[in-house]
Amino acid sequence: MTKLGRELAAQGANIISLSVGEPDFNTPDHIKDAAKKALDENYTRYSPVPGYPELRKAIVKKLKEENGLDYDISQIVVSTGAKQSLSNAILCVINPGDEVIIPTPYWVSYSEMVNLAEGKSVFINTSIASDFKITPQELENAITEKTKLFMFSSPCNPTGSVYSKEELAALVDVFEKHPQIYIISDEIYEHINFKSKHESIAQFESIKDRVILINGFSKSYAMTGWRLGYLAASKEIAAANDKLQGQTTSGTCSIAQRAGIAAYEGGLESVHKMKEAFERRRSLVYDALRDIPDVKVNLPEGAFYFFPDVSAFFGRKDEDGNIIENSSDLALYLLNKAHVATVGGDSFGNNDCIRLSYAASDQQLIEALRRIKTALGKLK
Ligand SMILES: Cc1ncc(COP(=O)(O)O)c(C=O)c1O
Repeated sequence: MTKLGRELAAQGANIISLSVGEPDFNTPDHIKDAAKKALDENYTRYSPVPGYPELRKAIVKKLKEENGLDYDISQIVVSTGAKQSLSNAILCVINPGDEVIIPTPYWVSYSEMVNLAEGKSVFINTSIASDFKITPQELENAITEKTKLFMFSSPCNPTGSVYSKEELAALVDVFEKHPQIYIISDEIYEHINFKSKHESIAQFESIKDRVILINGFSKSYAMTGWRLGYLAASKEIAAANDKLQGQTTSGTCSIAQRAGIAAYEGGLESVHKMKEAFERRRSLVYDALRDIPDVKVNLPEGAFYFFPDVSAFFGRKDEDGNIIENSSDLALYLLNKAHVATVGGDSFGNNDCIRLSYAASDQQLIEALRRIKTALGKLK
């Protein structure tokens, strides 16, 4: 959709993009300054494969102070974005035929990474009625003797759902009964949480050794282009990731790593400012979506996405007589007729919904939602 949107824009259309998954802010100045200094100080050579010790120390400190989690630097592996950390972790843990439980909707790359490792994705479907969260019973029902891994994000892309400490504890009760299962906890949106303080499933000591915690700098510090993420895991899993990365990409960009140290040492002021803006926009979009007949919407507790249920429009016709069959058709219709780029929910394993990112200015959001309302009103 982003690509199609750009093509239409190149032809002169005034496209508003609500399809991208990155903050619309610039990287804070103190982080950019650290990168410039790193160049001047000649941090231009290969770094250690799992990252500079100073960065891993800053990550250990962050995990202790912000999340109450104890890790040693030997348990941290820094990679080229959280995406590589996820992919490394899956490749290290999954053998061909192993089952990986993924609640839907999920971030697009999860199931493809599992395919690459020749694992088998087992989906637990959720809907807007449960705020897109799974229950312990649903988890238990999905587990077989082949289950090797469970992976999820909280706050979630694409739904913005956030698991509370109590909800995580109930899932942990299930994992305690199945010691062969690893848990990938993708916490990349941890700072964009409007509900309360971020809760990590790694805080539960009974399963901590099996949790592979994924995080990074892209979303919290508006550093998507720098490609900097990491995992924290047991020493055994971290060592396997180090070995794999040593034979593939080696240590990630030296300059980005020095910038990452400045990000973690520079406090959370810029993060809080960004979160305030997202919270204001969330209210704005929520009110506008609730004002559109036949759109079902919940209030996401984190990240910067809405995932409204638009299935009421399936089967309706546009002005040219084309029938909207599914979420992709609807996203395409909105792009062509309203000039608003969204993403069909089928990309995330849920065909009832579309994803709207509110990483856009207030004016753009108001105009986009006005156009969406008008366009949906024309479907009969
Ligand atoms: C849930 C989730 N995990 C991981 C990533 C990847 O982040 P990074 O830019 O650090 O690779 C994204 C990016 O969109 C994401 O939405």
